[in-house]
Amino acid sequence: MAKRLNPQQATLFAAPPSGDKSKGKPGKSTSGSRSSSGKSKSAKKPRTVIKLSKTRAQRAKARSKTAGRAGSSSTAAPKRRRGAGPETAQSMAAKQREISVSEFFTKNRHLLGFDNPRKALLTAIKEAVDNALDACEEAHILPDLFVEIRTVEGAEDRFCVAVTDNGPGIVKAQIPKIFGKLLYGSKFHRLKMSRGQQGIGISAAGMYGQLTTGRPMRITSRTGAKKPAHYYEVQVDTIKNQPQIVREDEVEWDRSQGTRVELELEARFQRGRQSVDEYLQQTAVANPHARVIYHAPDGAKLEFPRASKELPVIPREIKPHPYGLELGALISILRQTRSRNLSGCLQGDFTRVSARLAKDICEKARIAPRSRPSRIANGEAERLYRAIQSTKIMNPPTDCLAPIGEEALVAGLRKEYEADFYTAVTRPPRVYRGNPFQVEAAVAYGGSLPADGLAKVIRFANRVPLLYQQGSCAIWESILSTSWRNYHVDQSRGAPPSGPLVISVHFASVWVPFTSESKEAIASYPNIIKETKLCLQECGRRLSVFLSRRRREAEEQRKRDYIELYIPHIGIGLREILKFSETQERRMVSKLKGMLKRARTG
Ligand SMILES: Nc1ncnc2c1ncn2[C@@H]1O[C@H](COP(=O)(O)OP(=O)(O)OP(=O)(O)O)[C@@H](O)[C@H]1O
Ligand SMILES: [Mg+2]
Repeated sequence: MAKRLNPQQATLFAAPPSGDKSKGKPGKSTSGSRSSSGKSKSAKKPRTVIKLSKTRAQRAKARSKTAGRAGSSSTAAPKRRRGAGPETAQSMAAKQREISVSEFFTKNRHLLGFDNPRKALLTAIKEAVDNALDACEEAHILPDLFVEIRTVEGAEDRFCVAVTDNGPGIVKAQIPKIFGKLLYGSKFHRLKMSRGQQGIGISAAGMYGQLTTGRPMRITSRTGAKKPAHYYEVQVDTIKNQPQIVREDEVEWDRSQGTRVELELEARFQRGRQSVDEYLQQTAVANPHARVIYHAPDGAKLEFPRASKELPVIPREIKPHPYGLELGALISILRQTRSRNLSGCLQGDFTRVSARLAKDICEKARIAPRSRPSRIANGEAERLYRAIQSTKIMNPPTDCLAPIGEEALVAGLRKEYEADFYTAVTRPPRVYRGNPFQVEAAVAYGGSLPADGLAKVIRFANRVPLLYQQGSCAIWESILSTSWRNYHVDQSRGAPPSGPLVISVHFASVWVPFTSESKEAIASYPNIIKETKLCLQECGRRLSVFLSRRRREAEEQRKRDYIELYIPHIGIGLREILKFSETQERRMVSKLKGMLKRARTG
């Protein structure tokens, strides 16, 4: 280990006494002293050492001078800084300990979407609204939501947020765990399309509120008209990631069932892009079956009425599809399965594998169908993995996904944007990493949409609007890599298309591969990009047909306008040549105009 030199040593090396061979420390310094005794062979080496020593000596001198100016004795040796000593494996071991998930996210709250006060307000509302919509749909109830943001008296940067739903409510014993513990929920371990999936959203919002205002989350919930309503004040013990109940009560509540989540947080209310207003507006577009009443802190009261009384198809929970499943995941399924043999495991733990297909796969992999799954060695599992990938397996069933649908997508765009052309495409389901997914896109063009500037892009994942991190989203990447010029739409290199265009893309999956816990952007898996591009290309083709027709019609119109301009002159000419009376001329002109009109409409 390198040794620190003290000033005395530095001076000693700077001017080594002749003949002194032993006083220096081992290593370079010793060789330095030796060389100064007249051996010219290593003349270069000592010079380097002396230079280094001088520099250190100078530094030490300067330090002592500064210390002298500061009033301390100039002869005192420099003090060793506390805590700067080297660590050992043992001293490091003493400091190594588990990190609770809530501690981690307290430090990394930007990962959860709480990186600035404006975004924090949106994230908190989004988590509560997404949960409310999920809960209502799972209970087959048409959602009726009340979203309220109030200012807190005497604090400009504090808001009180409350979201009330008419969902199934939450069982009393579960309330503290759901709101006071991160990574606790009902959606993580299943393969079913829903807005939430991680089990972190609402407790993280509560934790942010607790961190910035010190106030606990307030929850009221009731599971039925004949059941009492429970009121809880809960906060997260961030060291243990455990709920702390501040207060619990049975209360009177004017609702027969549902949940009300209320929290106070440091935030900023602002309208416009990426605001709560935009999120709620886009939520209403993607969820026409929901009714949302919204009271903003500035007193504005908005209602997004229910546009459809039909609940979307309730997606079915499914098993993973064998395509795209990684080898490690396959091995883990083989270890954990309840099936006694491989054929049973393939049929029972995966979707779309019949008895015949399971037999084919086993034959290809040269493994007996009756082998015990847990005893399949890693080499065999690799063969099995390859056999699965090379076997033709049906696409996953469509009923595990609930796309918005072409009609509803167009209706949503029509409601918000006045355009000349609308179209929507829903692609068949595909698979990424064993997870079924489906992409749908809609396009609106022309009309009152702004003709200059880039196209507006609206992204949804499982019916939830994505307002942040557009640049890192697979949807954005797919839009950029689609050649919009092929469809008569302007596009600069590396940019989205431009013109009076709105592109809305919905990604639906049993597991959305978000790029971070804040669920703002979709990861760019190659097959997700491919599907999204195919979907956009189909929209583009339809748009191109519309634009070509419109261009053709405009050209014809131009020609006809030109002819129309000359009809009166033709009338004058005919009158002069054929000696028409004024009445005959008028008749001839109106006849010609009639012919032109018929040609136009026909
Ligand atoms: N309003 C509600 N009504 C009924 N159950 C709810 C409600 N809000 C939350 N829950 C339950 O609490 C669980 C935890 O919610 P939380 O938002 O923390 O996670 P999540 O929705 O599962 O996933 P994500 O972190 O992606 O949002 C949910 O899985 C759901 O079971
Ligand atoms: Mg949630």
